[in-house]
Amino acid sequence: MSPKLIVLLAIFSLQCLLALASDPDPVQDFCIPNPKYGAIRPARFTILPCKNSSEATTDDFVFSSMKSAGNFSETGLATIPVNPANFPGLNTLGMSFVRADLKAGAINPPHFHPRATEITHVVQGSVYSGFVDSSNRVFARVLEQGDVMIFPRGLAHFQMNVGDKPSTVFGSFNSQNPGSQKIPTAIFGSGIDDELLEKAFGLSPKQIGMLKKGLIPKGLN
Ligand SMILES: *[C@@H]1O[C@H](CO)[C@@H](O)[C@H](O)[C@H]1NC(C)=O
Ligand SMILES: *[C@@H]1O[C@H](CO)[C@@H](O)[C@H](O)[C@H]1NC(C)=O
Repeated sequence: MSPKLIVLLAIFSLQCLLALASDPDPVQDFCIPNPKYGAIRPARFTILPCKNSSEATTDDFVFSSMKSAGNFSETGLATIPVNPANFPGLNTLGMSFVRADLKAGAINPPHFHPRATEITHVVQGSVYSGFVDSSNRVFARVLEQGDVMIFPRGLAHFQMNVGDKPSTVFGSFNSQNPGSQKIPTAIFGSGIDDELLEKAFGLSPKQIGMLKKGLIPKGLN
């Protein structure tokens, strides 16, 4: 094989790998994890043995626990993440979703999902929503009831209820395990050395201490 051909083949293989950077395609209709093998935990989503498909029932494909808001944090945000851990029928299907309710003025702090693009649908209320791209451009506006917005995979995004009534938002992810990293916690609540944070943000040790203390108890983590 000529060296040129080998290089072309290598580039082609790399492109195939990049194109496949998502949940694997299912190799059967569905795979409801077999409860015999223990509780479903996020880290084990894709390696759980399926139960015999002849034992699947309609109820395995119906989720009824997001009809009302979840438990509100001190900051007024309630989320119900729905993934194979609480809805086993989703296993291997490459998607998951979330219900978020925000009290008037409440925020969903900047965060990102390393493994999924999110599409959000404002079911009720007025929600300032947006994301920041890798050139630090902000794409944000107030969404009204019925509006849908996309948060591309891996990009930081945020929401704030700017109405005077509670708002409800549904989000869907193109991964059964999107992951979620909250920026305030990743920076100030993860144990990064204070000296580095002081230099990165140009803040004093006292200011860094206040940020660390302030964020976590308020439920922004
Ligand atoms: C699944 O269940 C069907 C019907 O009970 C049975 O015939 C089949 O052998 C089972 N398959 C496995 C792999 O256990
Ligand atoms: C809300 O809190 C109760 C009591 O701790 C708990 O049983 C329930 O599962 C929680 N609901 C959600 C959606 O997390």
